[in-house]
Amino acid sequence: MSQTISVINGDGIGPEIMEASLRVLEALDCGLDYEFVEAGLPALDKHGDLLPEPTLESIRRNCVALKGPLTTPIGMGFRSINVTLREMFDLYANVRPVVSMPGTRARYEDVDIITVRENTEGAYLAADAKVSADGNTAESKMVITKKGSERVTRYAFELARRTGRKKVTLVHKANILKTVSGMFLDVARGVAAEYPDIQCEEMIVDATCMKLVMDPQQFDVIVTTNLFGDIISDLCAGLVGGLGLAPGANIGEAAAIFEAVHGSAPDIAGRKLANPCALLLASAQMLAHLEMNDRAQSLKSAIRETILAADRTTPDLGGSGHTDSFADAIIERVQKG
Ligand SMILES: NC(=O)c1ccc[n+]([C@@H]2O[C@H](COP(=O)([O-])OP(=O)(O)OC[C@H]3O[C@@H](n4cnc5c(N)ncnc54)[C@H](O)[C@@H]3O)[C@@H](O)[C@H]2O)c1
Repeated sequence: MSQTISVINGDGIGPEIMEASLRVLEALDCGLDYEFVEAGLPALDKHGDLLPEPTLESIRRNCVALKGPLTTPIGMGFRSINVTLREMFDLYANVRPVVSMPGTRARYEDVDIITVRENTEGAYLAADAKVSADGNTAESKMVITKKGSERVTRYAFELARRTGRKKVTLVHKANILKTVSGMFLDVARGVAAEYPDIQCEEMIVDATCMKLVMDPQQFDVIVTTNLFGDIISDLCAGLVGGLGLAPGANIGEAAAIFEAVHGSAPDIAGRKLANPCALLLASAQMLAHLEMNDRAQSLKSAIRETILAADRTTPDLGGSGHTDSFADAIIERVQKG
């Protein structure tokens, strides 16, 4: 039976990398049908709404979406569309894998880390955010719940078990943020105790950043709260050659949205300079989510071989190819099997 997914092209480089990614998915013969829906600036122009109801309805119906990056308009009271989508669909686990690719400017050759970031609470909810009447004081409440901490930690341990990984690192700042980070750590410890087959370690976030830069091979799966996870996962992307190679899955009980970690890159939009690999690697996460593991593996291997051969790759990887030529080179390898 074919599976329909919602596709949001996004803006900036979004349409270019989405077109390239869908061509590669076609070559993989995944049996996917696409329902194209709009969000962000194109939706604002057409429907007067950054997230129109038909788009939300499509995601509710299909339960899986592949999404290009969306520019958040500055000012005018707009919230981040990405944060809103995560809240609306309760996409509580943001799963960001990074793997060193030979042939890139990666700082290390043997990094293979998955960051699982809590996606629906913490500092990014900016609860009760306000600036005082005299303009001198800004405040914003950070809320951590037992439920949010429990489900994201359980997701990380289940992921580790399912994918044969050995260790989960609980990253926190409970020594200073004793209430909020303390609650996350307490709950995460309780979950970890249910997984005696997976090694668990605890690490303070600042020490984690230093160790990631100096000795990243010691990490396997990291689970942490929203703000720490956002920063750590970009740091990890830097270890393996940059944002052009960093995918992310937003997982909830009722829906999942797959996307590149990078944004809409307005500085290179429309010039076919964008590396499509982050969205392609997110597509591989989506295929695994849809239980098409063989195709997910084929896609990842084709990307890896293309980068290693420096075959028509984009300038961010030191190549002189463009978005479409890069996709063509990946398609040729996918077709060779
Ligand atoms: N998930 C999302 O939709 C998402 C994520 C992050 C930022 N954004 C939005 O994107 C807009 C631009 O953000 P930004 O400029 O801070 O970050 P960005 O990730 O768009 O760009 C940062 C730098 O990385 C480069 N880059 C990014 N993706 C690339 C790719 N695939 N290939 C080659 N180079 C690439 C860009 O050219 C730029 O120099 C903002 O409006 C921001 O809110 C959206």
